[in-house]
Order: sequence, then structure tokens, then C-alpha cells
Amino acid sequence: MRNRHGLSVAAVVLAGGLAWLTGTRAVAPAGVADANAGSGTATLSGVVEAPKPFKAAKVYIMNVDKNVLFMVYTSGGRYRAANLFPGRYEVTVRKQDLGAETRTIVLTAGAKETLNFSLREQAPQPIRQGEFGLSSRSSGDVKLVSYDELYPREPGRELLEKTCMYCHGRNFFPSKQYHETQWNSFVDLMLNAQSERGAMIPAGTLSQKDRETIVAYLVKHFGPGSPPRGLKADTEFPVDEEALGKAMYVEYYLPLDSKLDASNKQRRTQEPHFDQDGNVWYTDRSIPNRVGRLDPRTGHINDYVLPDPKADPHGLTVDANGHVFWAETVGFHLGRLDPKTGAMTRYPMDSTGQNKGRGHTPVVDSKDNVWFTVIVGDMIGKWDRQTGKATVWKVPTQGAAPYGITLDKNENVWFAEFRRCKVATFDPRTETFTEYPAVTQPCTIRRLGVDSTGTVWYGGFNSGKLGKLDPKTGKIVEYNIPMPFSEPYDVWPDRDDHIWISDGGQGGALIRFDPRTEKFTYYPTPQITDQPKLAITRDGAVWYTPRSSSRAAVGVLYPDAGKIKTLAAYY
Ligand code: HEC
Repeated sequence: MRNRHGLSVAAVVLAGGLAWLTGTRAVAPAGVADANAGSGTATLSGVVEAPKPFKAAKVYIMNVDKNVLFMVYTSGGRYRAANLFPGRYEVTVRKQDLGAETRTIVLTAGAKETLNFSLREQAPQPIRQGEFGLSSRSSGDVKLVSYDELYPREPGRELLEKTCMYCHGRNFFPSKQYHETQWNSFVDLMLNAQSERGAMIPAGTLSQKDRETIVAYLVKHFGPGSPPRGLKADTEFPVDEEALGKAMYVEYYLPLDSKLDASNKQRRTQEPHFDQDGNVWYTDRSIPNRVGRLDPRTGHINDYVLPDPKADPHGLTVDANGHVFWAETVGFHLGRLDPKTGAMTRYPMDSTGQNKGRGHTPVVDSKDNVWFTVIVGDMIGKWDRQTGKATVWKVPTQGAAPYGITLDKNENVWFAEFRRCKVATFDPRTETFTEYPAVTQPCTIRRLGVDSTGTVWYGGFNSGKLGKLDPKTGKIVEYNIPMPFSEPYDVWPDRDDHIWISDGGQGGALIRFDPRTEKFTYYPTPQITDQPKLAITRDGAVWYTPRSSSRAAVGVLYPDAGKIKTLAAYY
């Protein structure tokens, strides 16, 4: 299991292709000359021919000197990419069923070059997990099959879906080959209120008869001798060529440090956040744990190893002084870095020392207090700027697992109750909670966002729903995200109140939802991945971290690359 909290194993075992990116080319540190949008950069364009019509082929424009990828899509068989850093490039055009073609080119500052491609029809390649660079987190070949083949339609299926799979995802059970005693002992564990995380299956919700049906189903299909399988999700994304023709992704790959990363195959970025100087900060959960800063203008990266290198930092935020705060999952501390001096401090998340738990995501209010969620321990907390002390409050629902957090204009705290499928708010003035159960139950909700009108948006991670809550009336509307097996992770508004959804369920897409037209626009990501958190600039650039991808990065989508004014990131 690669995600201690989310069990979102489903996201990684997916079809698609990015074999060329998974190579073991030595990773050169990014850096070098300054490049602001336009000046000192290069432009590349061209025509892509193919024996049959195609839409929105991906054009990977990889700067091998700086270790930065630019990716655009074709529109009407043409592509164009601007704001490219000077350097040596490997350019690959890739389209499902049409294979890929790679060419190399050197781009100098100010250059406007042309590179044309012609794709040939190819027989579909058998899908092997290793091709996507997943071998470090899973072993051997896993056969990918359809949902109905994986989960035959028998009475146990629906029970398993609503009792277990809403948490564990669709690829968890097929990776196990347990006998009856083992399955039974795990069900006991899931029912046990005394375990560290409390009962996973709420008391009184699983009858003895249903339990037996579930265990029989698990033993029959995921018992000893059953082949390890995964879910095949090979549908193509619905693409809007006109929208995609304007878009550009940029991924800044993190270097593997020869000493720190000696035993790491890859690093693991979790959450992006901007400072006041246009830099993007991130947490890195590979060991030793780090927080880091990317300057998107240059690709320059600075990493800071945490005082406790195994604290497992999750969320991160930056206060008005540019100090960086992160929440530690292990050890119940909030960390703080002053980038000017490099000094790091750790504060207990409960200054009374009475409570223990696992921190998750921090957020700063207008007085530079730091609010945070506590995923194990069912709390939210506040670190007070004046006193330097932290206080926690238990949330009303046991087993809620508070996850994503944000503040509305009145500085009410909003957070997602991950495992109990509720959106909740805390009024700091009255110290009271209000909870809103999602429409589709049971579910998991990872994150939420509040738009400029105060409307709260959330993603039903397992249910594939986009939820909209009006706090004035308490009314909730849920929209179906159009693709099957969707897994909306973060849901975050831009300045124009378009809602951006990061979806790893189908192999990776950022999706823009327009609440006025109720239209979803898909922007398939460069790598197969999930993206646990989004941060959006005032110019509408959508920053993310590709967490389960084969190459760790800090990434950004410019939905309209023609409008890029700066590569710097500002709220
Ligand atoms: C509310 C979410 C949730 C539900 C519902 C749930 N689980 Fe779990 N399950 C977890 C979490 C979280 C863990 C990890 C526990 C830990 O590490 O303390 C886990 C652990 C497990 C494990 C052991 C993981 C491993 O590494 O092998 C198994 C097996 C398992 N669950 C099976 C089930 C089955 C079967 C059901 C339904 C009858 C179920 N779970 C329902 C959240 C859930």
C-alpha cells in the first residue's frame, strides 16, 4: 500500500504510455540562466501526420539539459509551444494506437524552429506495469482486466463495494491472495474500535450474514492461487481539441541527490504552494523528508532536509513573512522554516500534550495563525501566532479522518471528513462544528475548496462525483464526472470560479468544470499519476505535484499558454 492514508492504489495501475520518460538517464540538476516568459526563450511548432485521423496527440518537448518537460497537444494535426528554455531537446509525439516518434533538436534563445512528425499505425502493445515506472511500488506483471471480469456480478460484489471498496479502491483486493482465515482477521481489524485509527467499518453497519457473503466472495475471487490482477481503464479521455490546442503543461523534474537519494529510485512530491516571490514550495515524502522551493523562471531547485527526516510531511503552506509551515504525519508536529536563515522549528500540535495523532494539511489565516487537520485522531487544530502554542478540537464524527482544509472569507474553517463522507465547518468564534453529509453515501472525500461566492466544492473520491454545497441553505448538488472510475482528489476554484479537479482515476487528468455551462474539459497529464493538491495562480496557471508518477516533479498546466505573462507563480 503506497499511501498510508488514502489507499488510492487504484490510481497507479493504469493503462497508457510514457515509456520514454521512465528511462534511467542521469538526472542533471535544473538551474542556469534566468528565463522570463517570452524573452530569452524559444518557440517550436510543427505538423504531425498520421495514416488515420487523430485528435490531441501529446507532444512531449523534453529539455534534457534542464530536466524540464514542456507538453502541448496537437490541434488539427499541428502543435506550437512557446516559452521554451534554451537547450537540447528530445521531442516525442505520442498517440494511443499510433505509437510515438522521437526527434532531437537544439533550441537557442529567441529561436523559432519547426519540427514535423509522421506517426505510423501500430498494433496495441501489451501493457506491462514496469513500463510506467511503477516497479518500485509494485512487483511483477499484473494482468489488467475489465471491472466485470475482476469483480464478477454476484451478491458479494455490491456488498464489497459499499462496505470496503469505497475506501480501498478497485485495485486493492485483486492484489491480495488471502485465505479465509486471513480475510476474516482483516475484517475483524476493520471492525476494531480499539485500533490506532479506530473502526473503519462503523459499528452496526455490517450484519453477520453480509460479512459472511463478503468473505466468501473475497476467498472465491481473491483467494490463494488467484492471479494478481488490476483494473483496466483504457477508455480515451473525451478531448476538446480547441481547448487543448491552447494548453501547455510544464514539469520540472526533481534531481536525485547522489548522497541523499542513494537508496531512492524516485522522490515523492505531495503539495505545492506559492510564496510572495513567485516561487513554488512543495513537500517531498521520500526519505530523508524534505521541503523544497522551485523557481519556475529558472528551474532552480533548493531542498531543505527536515529536522526529523522520517516525519512524513504532508501538506505545506507559506505565511505572510515567507515562512514555510508543514504538517507532519508522524510525531504530531507542525514544522516551520525561515528560508532566509534556513532555521527550522517544530511545534507540538497540541501544546497540552494530552492528545496524540497524525497531522495532515495546514492553512494560514489573516493573522498568520496556522490551522491544520489531524487525520488520525479526528481533530482540527490551531497554532497561535501570538503564543506559539497549538490547540486541538475533536471533530463530532468518530473515524472522520479530517483531510483537506481551507478557510472561507469570514475565516470559518472548512475541511473534508475523508472516511465518513462529510463536509464540515468550524466557526472559530463560537468553537462549534457543523457537518454536511454528501449525497452519495458511503464515500471518501479528500479535499474541498471554497469559491468567491462562498460555495463549497468537494470531490467524491470513490464515487466520481463533484459536489457543490451552499452553506446558506445547506443544500448539496452532486454532478457526475463524465469518465468511469473517476477519482477526484483536489477540487479547487480559480479566480473566475471555474472549478479545477485533479483526477488520477483514469491515469491522470486535470479537469476544468464550468459551473455556468456545467461542462467538463479534460487536460490529460503528461505522466500517469495522481495529483493530491492543486494551487492556482492569479493568472489561472494550475500547479500540481504528480505523486505516483514515474518521475517526481513539480508541474503546472497553463490552460491558455498564449496568455502567459510570467513563469513565476503568485496567488
Ligand atoms: C473507512 C475506510 C475503510 C473501510 C470501509 C475498510 N477499510 Fe480496510 N483498511 C483501511 C485502512 C485505513 C487500513 C490500514 C490500517 C492501518 O494501517 O492501520 C486498512 C487495512 C486493510 C487491510 C490490510 C492492508 C494490507 O496491507 O494488507 C485489509 C486486508 C483490509 N483493510 C480489508 C478490508 C475489507 C475486507 C473491508 C470491508 C469488509 C475493509 N477493509 C473496509 C480502511 C478501510
